[in-house]
Amino acid sequence: MSDPLLEPFELKHLTLRNRIFSSSHEPAYAEAGMPTDRYRLYHEEKAKGGVALTMTAGSAVVAEDSPPSFGNLHAYDDAIVPWIQRMTDGVHEHGAACMIQLTHLGRRTGWSGGDWLPVLAPSPIREPAHRTIPKEAEDWDIERIVTKYADAVERMQAGGMDGVELQSYGHLFDAWWSPGTNQRTDEWGGETDNRLRFPWMVLEAVRDRVGPEFIIGLRMFIEESVPGGFDTEVGMDLLSRLEASGLIDFINVAKGSIHNDVELTDLIPIHGMPAAPMLDFAGMVRAATNLPVLHAAKIDDVATARHAIREGKLDLVGMTRAQIADPHLVNKIIEGREELIRPCVGATYCLDRIYEAGEALCLHNAATSREATMPHVIPRATAPRKVVVVGAGPAGLEAARVAGERGHEVVLLEVMPWAGGQIRLAIRNRRRSDLAGIIDWRTSELERLGVDVRYDTFAEADLVQSLEPDVVIIATGGFPQLPDLETGSAHVSTSWDVLGGDVIPTGRVMFYDDNGTHSALSAAEMIARSGADLEIVTPERMFGIEVGGMNHVPYARAFNETDTRITINQRVLSVRPEAGALCAEIGSDHSNHRVARHVDHVVVDHGTQPVADLYFDLKAASSNLGAVDYGALMDGRPQSLERHPGGAFQLFRIGDAVAGRNIHAAIYDALRLVKDL
Ligand SMILES: Cc1cc2nc3c(=O)[nH]c(=O)nc-3n(C[C@H](O)[C@H](O)[C@H](O)COP(=O)(O)O)c2cc1C
Ligand code: SF4
Repeated sequence: MSDPLLEPFELKHLTLRNRIFSSSHEPAYAEAGMPTDRYRLYHEEKAKGGVALTMTAGSAVVAEDSPPSFGNLHAYDDAIVPWIQRMTDGVHEHGAACMIQLTHLGRRTGWSGGDWLPVLAPSPIREPAHRTIPKEAEDWDIERIVTKYADAVERMQAGGMDGVELQSYGHLFDAWWSPGTNQRTDEWGGETDNRLRFPWMVLEAVRDRVGPEFIIGLRMFIEESVPGGFDTEVGMDLLSRLEASGLIDFINVAKGSIHNDVELTDLIPIHGMPAAPMLDFAGMVRAATNLPVLHAAKIDDVATARHAIREGKLDLVGMTRAQIADPHLVNKIIEGREELIRPCVGATYCLDRIYEAGEALCLHNAATSREATMPHVIPRATAPRKVVVVGAGPAGLEAARVAGERGHEVVLLEVMPWAGGQIRLAIRNRRRSDLAGIIDWRTSELERLGVDVRYDTFAEADLVQSLEPDVVIIATGGFPQLPDLETGSAHVSTSWDVLGGDVIPTGRVMFYDDNGTHSALSAAEMIARSGADLEIVTPERMFGIEVGGMNHVPYARAFNETDTRITINQRVLSVRPEAGALCAEIGSDHSNHRVARHVDHVVVDHGTQPVADLYFDLKAASSNLGAVDYGALMDGRPQSLERHPGGAFQLFRIGDAVAGRNIHAAIYDALRLVKDL
């Protein structure tokens, strides 16, 4: 029986080779607003990997008064056309279609970016996410922006795009038709025809400019699930009017709202949230329209995607983060090797990093967006070597996987009876259990590659040397370190104790988070959900300072629902036993004021320190004395430092065994080193 996912689809005059697309998402790789090589290669990789359609950009901005708040492309600039042409050529060369999403962000941006022009909206209503108070759009704004849309679409057509998707929801486009954001009493507000006037003018201007054949679609909410928003009946009415106009060729369906992070996580659910939450809704829309229906929202496994197409719920199914995690997902389906797909674990590090650090990265695919330097398909080495990896956490697993792909003889030693390192702790918080995919995918890859994995093995220098390795990679991870207390370190436990189940704090619990990462928040969430009376104390000006906005939401929800108190700008200074409990003194960097709290437990998170005894035991016997040639590492050349010519093997240390960081850093350490061994 043929696979419904692999059936071609006719979108107007365009034949798409299968039913899987990558929905528009701004990864913030642009340089000065242009999609340069990194951007192009990122999309080319998906095309190589078999995707039918890659919808590039996310919210490429059509006008200067739509400041690019998350690294958006400057579709208003003529200079973009050759860059677009290079990208479309690259994608087309690998058999995929290429489109782009354009928008005017309206009030959904910050006024202090880009050209510092005032942002605007139909009505001067503050936008919660960016705290922007827009100006009320005037007639000359409207005329100008309508032309800007047409100009931008024409640029995309000139650059070889197969079509354009106009982003409607949360941006200027649907701000006009949503009663929550358009409260005008003139000819632009009130009646539906008035509220549709601007979108209509845009669509007509665009059509006039690029002709009837060019594909134009709309990404729109059919329902705004917020007070003051429009309901499904109104949304369907808008859709049928748009369809009847003949001005659009497809519809990319969603429902919800994006005014704050909570609403954004409902729209783009992260791990621990239900899969495919809007699929049936999109199916209802498809049943009521003749327009091709596209949709994406946490359809991250092939079975659900196949179900969506087979049951006629969608014409094209978006697997966006799934292809950020594995851009070769479609080819693996075509080749009948679905079990090899690197799973998206819903961590949404990708999206959070746009705002936190200005570029999307996949938590556990360090090659994504680094296509110029990091391979998705690891080339085999010309000379196989014997590689011993110590530690089966994310760094060690990745090192063993990449070494196996290189064709080396690999032995992986792990002291525990299982793989996973700190991820094993992380998934003790059941909400985050999808992270297990990072381990499971790698252990099954190691099996396929014939890596010799030895669990329950405490690796000492003698054992490692007895294996006669050419290369030793130490990935022994880290161990919790304690904050610098004046007194009382013996009376505290750590987030690891809680996550591991060794300590179950009850009663009054103070959690001192001096780290701001997932380990702290995860443990605190478990404590809060267990019914303890919890106070989180942090020296930062917000809690969980290293955790991005999307991941912040479930933690905040847990703390909110459990009446957890959050105390910012405070450090735990000392802990001492008192009256059968503990007295914790807290104080601030800002003054000498100190306060005492009486609690039953103090739990701390101060990050990790490296577990590196084995590395130092082996260092003197190695040929490089543990040194890494950073120049070679970054240029993609083999490591060849010789600091001890009599040394029997090269020795390297990766991941938290070097310094406590995160899963992505551990995996990147491993990939970047081992791909050139
Ligand atoms: C890094 C990132 C950036 C995104 N930016 C946009 C955007 O600019 N415009 C948009 O319509 N959707 C954007 N999205 C949402 C995606 O198009 C998609 O709806 C979402 O990822 C859910 O689909 P998935 O579960 O298949 O990933 C973004 C998603 C990600 C992960
Ligand atoms: S960071 Fe997480 S959610 Fe994003 S693509 Fe990677 S695995 Fe998926």
